[in-house]
Amino acid sequence: MAMGRFVVYVCICNAVTDSQIIEAQQAGLSTMKEITEHLGVGNCCGRCVETAEEVLAQNSGVQKYIPSFDSPALVPA
Ligand code: FES
Repeated sequence: MAMGRFVVYVCICNAVTDSQIIEAQQAGLSTMKEITEHLGVGNCCGRCVETAEEVLAQNSGVQKYIPSFDSPALVPA
């Protein structure tokens, strides 16, 4: 008997699962901005953004955090 994969809710505010994020990514959405526009992930309380970014990164190898001019300065470790 094959074991299924568990589905995890990433964004509680919008009831979005990791599977939905992966499906959107496989359909061609590759950035957190695109995922937010398509699924609403992160558009309410924002607590899910880091986890959603991890789901994207784990399934694409895309950099988890892409700094912009609006981001706080990055401090080397
Ligand atoms: S849990 Fe995703 S916006 Fe609140």
